[in-house]
Amino acid sequence: MRQQLVALVERPMDATVQQYGSEILTARDLANNTIVLGSPGSGKTSGVLQSLQYGALTASPYMGGLFNTAKQDDLPNILKPIKYANRLSDCIIINALGEFRLNWLEYARKQTPKGSSEAITVLEMLRIFSEMVSKSASVSKDPFWQTHVDKFCLAAITLLIYAKVSLSVKKMIQILHSMPKNTDDIKDDEFISRSKFMYYLNLALDNPDTENNQEFDQCVSYFLDEMAGTMDSRTMSNIVASIHATLFPASIGLMAKLLDDVESNFSMDMTFDGSIIIIDVPSSVYHEQANLVTSMLMYLWQKDVMMRDLSKNNRAVFSFTDEAQLTINRQTVAFSSVCRSQQALCIYASQSLAAIKVRLGPHSDHLLDQFINNCGNIYMLSSTNPDTLRLFSDLVGKDYEMRVGFNAGLANGHNSANASEDYRYILPEKEFRLLATGGPRNSYVVESIFVSSGRTFNEDQTYLRVAFDQKMLEH
Ligand SMILES: Nc1ncnc2c1ncn2[C@@H]1O[C@H](COP(=O)(O)OP(=O)(O)OP(=O)(O)O)[C@@H](O)[C@H]1O
Ligand SMILES: [Mg+2]
Repeated sequence: MRQQLVALVERPMDATVQQYGSEILTARDLANNTIVLGSPGSGKTSGVLQSLQYGALTASPYMGGLFNTAKQDDLPNILKPIKYANRLSDCIIINALGEFRLNWLEYARKQTPKGSSEAITVLEMLRIFSEMVSKSASVSKDPFWQTHVDKFCLAAITLLIYAKVSLSVKKMIQILHSMPKNTDDIKDDEFISRSKFMYYLNLALDNPDTENNQEFDQCVSYFLDEMAGTMDSRTMSNIVASIHATLFPASIGLMAKLLDDVESNFSMDMTFDGSIIIIDVPSSVYHEQANLVTSMLMYLWQKDVMMRDLSKNNRAVFSFTDEAQLTINRQTVAFSSVCRSQQALCIYASQSLAAIKVRLGPHSDHLLDQFINNCGNIYMLSSTNPDTLRLFSDLVGKDYEMRVGFNAGLANGHNSANASEDYRYILPEKEFRLLATGGPRNSYVVESIFVSSGRTFNEDQTYLRVAFDQKMLEH
């Protein structure tokens, strides 16, 4: 791991990341969020992302950051520019067979702002997790069950914190299945002796901090008065079932292996000192589990970036999210509003806005609008999707043209002329359909149209045509 020699670097946001002729894109330009849009096979990964990755890895002062893989053969392609930049020793590669682990709940707990509640900070992350599982970033349709899930999570996390054991979803599920379900349980010695809930409760009661502690009293009251005391058994079993359904996906598969109930051996904020974290859990292999692990690690990194004190460490950081439609959530959108001021260069690639919308779930138009508005740089690649093509033409904008007509009447010698102003697309949809998509047929060239908010090119052009060489690192 690279040692942190100097915490502060000079002018990190002036670093050049891309140069297209006389046009330069600096870290400051790219901190304004970047999205790369184009159909499958249009050259997003091998053209635009590769070039931006290479630029970010070779920029000076150097940056650390985050990569994800979406397909099983992505890792060698991500490592190519890293090797080229001679930065393999900075890499932390997280994968199913590797050694790296990060205890997500404990990590989130440490991100609690001073004076706030640790349990609520952890609950906020669990909510985003649950939205990822249900593929919906909108408010739950069933507030009754949702409130019970939240209440349980808050109480179980509080209990574990006061019991002074490390937080995990696995332990929360143990509590769920061993909490007293009625008043008889509380008096039953056999229940008390085998209940994990009672075990954690006793540990917590040994903790002097629980004395005259309102937060802890509320937590105990939730379990003993509200749940065991008043609930009829049918409602109780329905509530237990909804809580279990929410927590279960975090307690199995790769979530359990890499993030839950594990001992952390790296941290996301190492990127602030130049580490390169590669989340190599491709969705094409591990499906939904991959999206959960990747999005939760990104969540924790984004929170670290948001809390970061730039007066102590001001190195710029980057995050490359390929196939962003698989990992985007409410937090990504919130982060897109603040990452510029926190010196983070976030680059997202996706096939279409429709794909992103599917992940954000129904009633999420406002989130998608907010996200796109926060993307100051857009690379548009070849597309066949009519909505995407219309968006591309709109993004480049319209210009007005003067139409002039002239009529000559042969018979009576009457001539007429007319002129009218009309607005037309600067680049019609066809221009985007015809962009080169790389591969041998296009001599390995990927073409794109680039727009950047508030910026003009070649004096007064609203867009810039940029070509990328897929073999740039092989020459
Ligand atoms: N290193 C390479 N050399 C030659 N051709 C390549 C290389 N990498 C990709 N290609 C080809 O270039 C085209 C663009 O591929 P690329 O994977 O970059 O597209 P993409 O936009 O990322 O697609 P997807 O949305 O499916 O990820 C494809 O036809 C692909 O087969
Ligand atoms: Mg790709």
